[in-house]
Amino acid sequence: MRVLVTGGAGFIGSHLTEELLRRGDTVAILDDFSSGKREHVPQEATLSTCSIVEPAARDAILAFKPEAVVHLAAQIDVRQSMEHPLNDTTINVLGTVNVLTAAAEAGTRHVIFASSGGTVYGDTDVIPTPEDHPNFPLSFYGAAKRSGELYGMMVAAQHNMRFTALRYGNVYGPRQDPHGEAGVVAIFCSRLFKHEPLAIHGDGKQTRDYVFVTDVVAANCSVLDSGAAGIFNIGTGLETSVNELYAVIAKRCGGPEKAAHDAAKPGEQRRSCIDIAHARKVLHWTPQVSLAEGIDATAAFFQMKHDLSHQPAH
Ligand SMILES: NC(=O)c1ccc[n+]([C@@H]2O[C@H](COP(=O)([O-])OP(=O)(O)OC[C@H]3O[C@@H](n4cnc5c(N)ncnc54)[C@H](O)[C@@H]3O)[C@@H](O)[C@H]2O)c1
Repeated sequence: MRVLVTGGAGFIGSHLTEELLRRGDTVAILDDFSSGKREHVPQEATLSTCSIVEPAARDAILAFKPEAVVHLAAQIDVRQSMEHPLNDTTINVLGTVNVLTAAAEAGTRHVIFASSGGTVYGDTDVIPTPEDHPNFPLSFYGAAKRSGELYGMMVAAQHNMRFTALRYGNVYGPRQDPHGEAGVVAIFCSRLFKHEPLAIHGDGKQTRDYVFVTDVVAANCSVLDSGAAGIFNIGTGLETSVNELYAVIAKRCGGPEKAAHDAAKPGEQRRSCIDIAHARKVLHWTPQVSLAEGIDATAAFFQMKHDLSHQPAH
């Protein structure tokens, strides 16, 4: 299949691209490298370097004529979205509309959109949260993800195209960016290996649903292969507090048993855990990697990075 991956130089996108190429798909990547890395782009993939908000993105999609588009390119930082809402909206809403309309124009049969199970529902006592739960996002990022789903369904209905929104939990794994605020597993692993100070925001009892990146890749492949349309939560259905997460990572990376705590971040969601029964049933997908296994693989990656940066120069 001809698949165009926006954000293919990023964390999830680069893992997905590798798997698609391994399966024999023909892959094009569209990325502006705002956070993605050139070394993550395999030689076998066609590359267009531009922003999804630019007309050049439409041109690239029309030129490649993808059968499927996996739309991952985004401003991914929830707190950045609160500080710079217009920037978030430009990339995550207008950029998404640009990708959707270009895909429809190019005759693309299926668009898969990376939505967010951690932010579209907002605070809720219904845990794990199913897809039909009402949406009360607490951030511009969450509202933009929900908007992307609505635009996707609308454009798909108008153009006889399939549209699937995958609402990811907190995705983690090798290559995740340990800088900034998104990606707590990468941040903890990286800081512990570098012996850098680290603090948990608030009491650490806030919970998230941590899903390993290869399970997210497998969910995307199931959607591509089955052609299933609709909205699917892609997580584990397991709730883990930041304190529990820290304990597992500290044990693996050799950090102090208890972490320091600083002030809670205002507006931070208290609990998040998503129900994956729909994906299990329709996509025949189920997460394969336990938290302990996933953290072990992620820690090994950050340990290798740390060791390489400390090798003596020859
Ligand atoms: N990582 C998670 O826990 C998580 C959870 C829910 C949803 N998501 C979504 O999954 C997708 C991928 O996230 P990720 O964790 O791999 O992040 P990432 O930052 O590693 O990847 C995003 C990629 O998009 C590119 N990009 C950003 N803005 C762009 C633009 N305007 N034009 C073209 N390319 C642009 C970046 O350079 C990067 O390569 C995003 O849509 C994100 O919102 C991620």
